[in-house]
Amino acid sequence: MSANRPAAVVVLAAGEGTRMKSATPKVLHDICGRSLVGHVLAASGELEPENLVVVVGHAREQVIAHLAEVAPDVRAAVQAEQNGTGHAVRRGLEELGGSVDGTVVVVCGDTPLLTGETLRRLSATHSADGNAVTVLTAEVPDATGYGRIVRDAASGAVTAIVEHKDASEEQRAIREINSGVFAFDGVLLADALKRVRTDNSQGEEYLTDVLGILRGAGHRVGASVAGDHREIAGINNRVQLSQARRILNDRLLTAAMLSGVTVVDPATTWVDVTVTFGRDVVVHPGTQLHGATHLAEGCEVGPNARLTDTRVGAGARVDNTVASGAEVGPEASVGPFAYLRPGTRLGRKGKIGTYVETKNASIGEGTKIPHLSYVGDATIGDFSNIGAASVFVNYDGQDKYHTTVGSHCRTGADNMFVAPVTVGDGAYTAAGSAITKDVPPGSLAVARGQQRNIEGWVARKRPGSAAARAAEEAARESAGQD
Ligand code: UD1
Ligand code: CA
Repeated sequence: MSANRPAAVVVLAAGEGTRMKSATPKVLHDICGRSLVGHVLAASGELEPENLVVVVGHAREQVIAHLAEVAPDVRAAVQAEQNGTGHAVRRGLEELGGSVDGTVVVVCGDTPLLTGETLRRLSATHSADGNAVTVLTAEVPDATGYGRIVRDAASGAVTAIVEHKDASEEQRAIREINSGVFAFDGVLLADALKRVRTDNSQGEEYLTDVLGILRGAGHRVGASVAGDHREIAGINNRVQLSQARRILNDRLLTAAMLSGVTVVDPATTWVDVTVTFGRDVVVHPGTQLHGATHLAEGCEVGPNARLTDTRVGAGARVDNTVASGAEVGPEASVGPFAYLRPGTRLGRKGKIGTYVETKNASIGEGTKIPHLSYVGDATIGDFSNIGAASVFVNYDGQDKYHTTVGSHCRTGADNMFVAPVTVGDGAYTAAGSAITKDVPPGSLAVARGQQRNIEGWVARKRPGSAAARAAEEAARESAGQD
């Protein structure tokens, strides 16, 4: 157990977020594969708090449903009316019985860039200095809208936080701002919140007033200054959402590069927080990696790949491909221009080539589907070759059926495998066949109309045409050769 383990973290997420102009609650917007509040919960979780409470209000049904899905251990406290940050924390504490013994950390649900490390530093300062409250602050280039940190001119001690709307001209010149993140002594916090008033420009209970109240009662008040002010930025609109996504994406790619991944163009490569890499992976430009995607050692992905929940084996090559829920074996090759849908499993050294779509298909070691094909609901053995332009006809308009092709098969170009059907090991099929019946191992299946040539048809039916002249010329040439 960590020495500074807080008794509780309270996440404030009841606000409306009107500036997002969205049907989706602000804290549920996504960056890098996780909601804004999900990022805050992940950072908060690094403190290993005994209790994690999210204060919800606006669109709370959606937020609560989301929390149940991504963080089932988190408790939700409802703040029906948004009467200010102080009121919100009061509601959070009520969920925990009114007050808790130990440190209470308060964070906002819309600051996805906040790191666990910064929270740990805040918590450590708070404990080490024996503070009643420690506020996380930052120097920002433009402090407009933020609460300003007022310090004593002589001692430098924090004396108060003044909201922008309530600040004097002189106070507005201060560039050190309140991040909205605090560590409190839980008992003193609960007590001070009872004394917060609403006689301010917004008529709200300000959490920030707790600081002045505690200082007035003779308690220690401190500050922890964040190293990078961008970390504490709250998201209010979609411009800030995209800026935060860029910063987080850069962080993730930097970590990947430092662990041995070549990212050719970080500007056009996008990853989720859940993506993992082996060493010596190469990621080419225009690549998006989502969900539980894993790129194993030495594989090469892109350019222009979008992989979701996809595992790429060591040394494999995936080029210009969209894949979801797929598994690409070691040293296998995919694309360019392939579409791998859920349930695709490609074996070692297998190939899914150009303009090939696969779904729910298990494709064995060394087996190749090189060109222009659809393989759905299929099992294909090892070292087989599927001819160009083949379709696994899996759907009769009502139900889906399975096709099995054995090992060491050679199927001809332009085949239709009308499922359910089985092609045995070592079997061949003729080009242009519609395979509707099982093919025994080792046999050649031919399933197509016989070719019939009607001689002289063009001369009779299209006399004088370019085709007829070409045919006459060909006839003269072959006669001359005899
Ligand atoms: C607040 C701080 C300000 C700080 C800024 C940092 C106060 C009074 N002001 O201002 O000093 O610089 O954050 O971003 O605390 N919320 C609730 N219930 C409420 C009100 C707010 O849950 O009744 C939540 C919001 O959803 C949001 C957070 O608290 O996540 C901050 O609220 P917001 O209205 O954005 O506060 P600011 O005015 O930005
Ligand atoms: Ca805000």
